[in-house]
Amino acid sequence: MTPTIVLLGATSEIGSELVLRICAQHHVVLAARRIDALADLEEKLLDRGALSVEKLFFDAQDLDSHRPLFEHIVHNAPGYIHHVIVAFGILGDQEKAQVDELHAAEIAHIDYTAQIVSLSVAADVLLSNQEVSTLTAFSSIAGWRARRANYVYGSTKAGLDAFCQGLTDRLHGSCVNMITVRPGFVIGAMTTGMKPAPLSVDAATVADTVAKTLTLPVGKLRSRTLWVPAQLRLLAWVMRIIPRGVWRKMPR
Ligand SMILES: NC(=O)c1ccc[n+]([C@@H]2O[C@H](COP(=O)([O-])OP(=O)(O)OC[C@H]3O[C@@H](n4cnc5c(N)ncnc54)[C@H](OP(=O)(O)O)[C@@H]3O)[C@@H](O)[C@H]2O)c1
Repeated sequence: MTPTIVLLGATSEIGSELVLRICAQHHVVLAARRIDALADLEEKLLDRGALSVEKLFFDAQDLDSHRPLFEHIVHNAPGYIHHVIVAFGILGDQEKAQVDELHAAEIAHIDYTAQIVSLSVAADVLLSNQEVSTLTAFSSIAGWRARRANYVYGSTKAGLDAFCQGLTDRLHGSCVNMITVRPGFVIGAMTTGMKPAPLSVDAATVADTVAKTLTLPVGKLRSRTLWVPAQLRLLAWVMRIIPRGVWRKMPR
C-alpha cells in the first residue's frame, strides 16, 4: 500500500521544500490554484523517489471545495494518507488592510478561516485512516504578540495557533500527530523586498526541521510545536515582556 502525502498550497516555497524531503516511496498530491506552476516540482519529486504525483486545482478561499477535494484524494489514493501539509497563506499588505477592510477580510479568510476548514477536514480523514499519520500547519512568530507593522496577518496566526493547540489536544491519544510550526522571518517569496529580522532562516531550514520530525520512527513520533529556528522560543518569551510603549515602535 503506497502511502500518500497531500500538500495544500503546493506552490509554497516552504511546502515544496518540505515535500521534497519526505516524498520517497510516496504518492504525492499537489493541490494549488496555479497547477501550471507545478511541473518543475513534479519532476523533482519523481527524481527524489516519489512513486507518483497528482496535481489538483485548489483555491483555499472556496471553503465548500475542501471536503470534496479530500474525498477525491481518498478515493483515488493508492494507499492511506500519511502526511497532510497545509502550506497555503498570504502575508497581505498591512498598509492596504488598514484602509481597505475587505483586504483585511481576505487575509483573515485565507490565513485563518480557510486554514481551519482544511485542518478540520484533514483531521477527519486522517482519523478515519486508523494509520499513524501527521497533520502539519504553519503558524508564525507573528502570531505570538501582535505588532503594529503586521497585526492583521499576526492576528490570523494567533487564531490559527490557538486552533492548532486545541486540535492537538483533541487528537491526543489518536493515530494522528499534529505538527504546529512557528517559523520566524523566512527569507523567500513571501517576504521579498523586506529587511530580514533577527534569527531569519530560509525555507530549506524550515523544511529540514519539519522533515526531521515527520520522518521520526513511529515510536518517537508525537504531536509537537516546532519553533524555527529553535532559539526563537527564547526570543519569543522576551518579546512578551517588552513594555507596550517600546513594542509599538518596533519596525516589524
Ligand atoms: N515566509 C515567511 O516568512 C513565513 C514565516 C512564518 C510562517 N509562514 C507561513 O508558512 C506558510 C508557507 O509560507 P511560504 O513562505 O511557503 O509562502 P509562499 O512561498 O508565499 O507560499 C504561500 C502559497 O500559498 C498559496 N496560496 C495563497 N492563497 C491561496 C489560496 N487562496 N488557495 C490556494 N493557495 C493559496 C500561494 O499560491 P499562489 O502561487 O497561487 O499565489 C503560495 O504559493 C504560510 O502559512 C505562511 O504564512 C511563512
